Amino acid sequence: MCGIFAYLNYHVPRTRREILEILLKGLRRLEYRGYDSAGVGIDGGNSKDWESNARSIQLIKQRGKVKALDEEIHKQQDIDLDVEFDVHSGIAHTRWATHGEPSPVNSHPQRSDKNNEFIVIHNGIITNYKDLKKFLESKGYEFESETDTESIAKLVKYMYDNRESDDISFATLVERVTQQLEGAFALVFKSVHYPGEVVGTRRGGPLLIGVRSDHKLSSDHIPVLYRSCSYSFSFYTTLPLMRVRLSSSLYACFIRVSKIKRLMWFLICHDSAVIEHTNRVIFLEDDDVAAVMDGRLSIHRIKRTAGDYPARAIQTLQMELQQIMMGNYSSFMQKEIFEQPESVVNTMRGRVNFDNNTVTLGGLKDHIKEIQRCRRLILIACGTSYHAGVATRQVLEELTELPVMVELASDFLDRNTPVFRDDVCFFISQSGETADSLMALHYCKERGALTVGITNTVGSSISRETDCGVHINAGPEIGVASTKAYTSQFVALIMFALLMCDDRISVQPRRREIIQGLRVLPDLIKEVLSLDDEIQKLATELYQQKSVLIMGRGYHYATCLEGALKIKEITYMHSEGILAGELKHGPLALVDKLMPVIMIIMRDHTYVKCQNALQQVVARQGRPIVICDKEDHETIKTSSRTIKVPHCVDCLQGILSVIPLQLLSFHLAVLRGYDVDCPRNLAKSVTVE
Ligand code: F6R
Repeated sequence: MCGIFAYLNYHVPRTRREILEILLKGLRRLEYRGYDSAGVGIDGGNSKDWESNARSIQLIKQRGKVKALDEEIHKQQDIDLDVEFDVHSGIAHTRWATHGEPSPVNSHPQRSDKNNEFIVIHNGIITNYKDLKKFLESKGYEFESETDTESIAKLVKYMYDNRESDDISFATLVERVTQQLEGAFALVFKSVHYPGEVVGTRRGGPLLIGVRSDHKLSSDHIPVLYRSCSYSFSFYTTLPLMRVRLSSSLYACFIRVSKIKRLMWFLICHDSAVIEHTNRVIFLEDDDVAAVMDGRLSIHRIKRTAGDYPARAIQTLQMELQQIMMGNYSSFMQKEIFEQPESVVNTMRGRVNFDNNTVTLGGLKDHIKEIQRCRRLILIACGTSYHAGVATRQVLEELTELPVMVELASDFLDRNTPVFRDDVCFFISQSGETADSLMALHYCKERGALTVGITNTVGSSISRETDCGVHINAGPEIGVASTKAYTSQFVALIMFALLMCDDRISVQPRRREIIQGLRVLPDLIKEVLSLDDEIQKLATELYQQKSVLIMGRGYHYATCLEGALKIKEITYMHSEGILAGELKHGPLALVDKLMPVIMIIMRDHTYVKCQNALQQVVARQGRPIVICDKEDHETIKTSSRTIKVPHCVDCLQGILSVIPLQLLSFHLAVLRGYDVDCPRNLAKSVTVE
């Protein structure tokens, strides 16, 4: 939800053209997080002296996608693109509107005043912005946008205008600002008063720092400096080693001071934006204030809180650049659908041993005994991730013999759902940053429950804040409509269910059946993907319809919900996932000879009931398209249209039944002329409530 990309080159000469290209490329990588407007803030002067250039800021903003911003930049007459900067800091943003319609004035960076003294980019929501605005207006500050973010830009200027001494640091100003803010945010600031500096901070929204240096980094950790101490050190590569006692009562740490001059810094909200520049990143924690000044990074906090680790590790990203490229596909969504034979293998890799039917989940090993003793499992998530919980609930109940609740995070919080110390709460989230899921996590932690993360994003808030977890390893998912993350979440939860019962003799035959099902799953997925042409043809018959109903039950109810969500979000057609058992309690009234209906009928324990539902639909002149087992000759014979998928063990069959619907939604969207990866009004990673 909104993309943040800031870039600072320190004694690495770059022309303005090169700097803008880096900023725009970073924004393009983040565009899936928000694409209704975009903007950049760069140094404004055109002289040979970088420092005097940095005494003014040029803002360029445009409604629409990054391409529109790129065009706007090239229309600017007063910017000399060939000016070279030895040192330069630029900040850039792509927006998903929360306050104020998409327009240049509402785009970020937001500014403090007409001279652009301070500018800021923001991901999140400031809930007390009206109070701040009222206060600042009473002090004479004039607002120009409808955004909540503008109050931050004005507030930092207010802090600066009312500073007690001239040598106040940029980081201190930002710290003071964040103390006044309520809500969730990741922020990056730039100012004409602090040339060659940028400051970033976060609370409830992700923010990472990427670093690229010609020299090996000297340390794997960056010490955090607490305001209570009087030192303000930065560190970096090689010589000399200094030992500094930061605060006698807290801790001591080693800091290496930099002699190195060539550095590039990035402040970003997602690692995919930086991978082509560096794989060395630092994940900031809530309330960290990170400042790059004189080419060096320092991280400050106002106070130390319980459990707060006084250093931030420099981590190495495992991601490869090609993972975030589209390759020969027409969209990321299409690529990600076709990646599923490999992504499910990656989820299982090193975890499922098909020869001796065992499952190992390293991330749970210290807690599995406690989980086995728990009173109930609660799976909490939003959207597609919630559907992964619905899809696996039945097998979890079967193999764990525990009550399993599956909860939409927002509703779970609205109800103040009772949670106890002996509950185990799972947070399923592709991004690991979804605000509702994150708040539900905090709620469960406060009540003493053990928390488990099922995420796809290493270093994300959910993966860091849960007690333990499973990383699904599906690889970066860029398409806004989630596909491969769903099937990998599904597999991860199945592996968990298998682990929970590995010492129960009575379930061993069932365990073996499921594990052997996992072994053949990648090949079966490939077989389903080979139906692509047939599904594209079906899409040409359906794409002008207004509505599609999807019906099923048991293991496939989740497929109905997920298929309908995919169709809604990228084709803008109405679609509803209907539990076939509920058909006669209302939804049957929608069925007539014109209403497109898709039914999922598989040969499991609900087969006879699904056949009954099929008859009820046919009796109302419905002409359902049936997704069925390719060996189910009876259904094939009695249905006017079928999509035949291979057979798999019942609890995994949902992975095979959902893929035709992923493909169908993709082809429908293409035929209707929509941008598959960037559906209107949506964005990947919903970091606001
Ligand atoms: C639908 C979709 C969303 C997400 C939901 C949760 O295709 O992508 O419904 O599943 O916003 O996101 P995560 O899994 O990142 O918590």
